[in-house]
Amino acid sequence: MSDPLPYVLVLFYSRSGATRAMAEQFVAGIESQSGISARLRTVPPVSRTCEAVDPEIPEEGAIYATLDDLRHCTGLALGSPTRFGNMAAPMKYFIDSTSELWMNGALIDKPATAFTSTSSPHGGQESTLLSMLLPLLHQGMVYAGVPYSETELFDTVGGGTPYGASHLAGTASDRPLDDIERKLCQAQGRRLARLALALDAMRRQR
Ligand SMILES: Cc1cc2nc3c(=O)[nH]c(=O)nc-3n(C[C@H](O)[C@H](O)[C@H](O)COP(=O)(O)O)c2cc1C
Repeated sequence: MSDPLPYVLVLFYSRSGATRAMAEQFVAGIESQSGISARLRTVPPVSRTCEAVDPEIPEEGAIYATLDDLRHCTGLALGSPTRFGNMAAPMKYFIDSTSELWMNGALIDKPATAFTSTSSPHGGQESTLLSMLLPLLHQGMVYAGVPYSETELFDTVGGGTPYGASHLAGTASDRPLDDIERKLCQAQGRRLARLALALDAMRRQR
């Protein structure tokens, strides 16, 4: 039997939809490359009461990620809204459940990137992206920011940073992705897919 198609895991948390819209653009960019697919997954919200239980399958949208989704990916795009200049607790909670992958080196030499959405233009996109990079480095992943060959980085009046794709959603969270933000998400998805295939080949040669 032939190997299943390698996939990039697009793992996001989103409450009002902005980060989910970015995740969908990443999927489009990844799936524009042949030989690789995208797997879109989310994480459940965390509750103030520690024993609250939600259905295992959300009522709509992407299904919840499992550790196996992460274990077997060839690349990772990690998306979270900015919460006080940092990633949202549900994403951090999921990341904090990945010790077993860390102990087994399951993510070493796999490419990763991060994306975020904020309500205000200087509300912490870059600090959030940098905070999301930290656990990925601990896992041995190879972080890919957005290179300035994506010249929209010079022109954007919304989101878009060299640390990862971003989106300015506005105070009412109702500003849709603009053309530049969409293009940067797709470009980063394509780049991640290419890096995933290249690093996958490298790991197989060992
Ligand atoms: C608890 C909380 C903290 C937030 N902190 C920030 C912040 O530090 N900077 C900012 O610009 N927006 C902040 N926001 C706004 C969200 O980042 C913004 O609305 C984002 O686009 C939501 O993404 P989503 O639609 O994917 O849920 C915060 C929102 C919440 C609920």
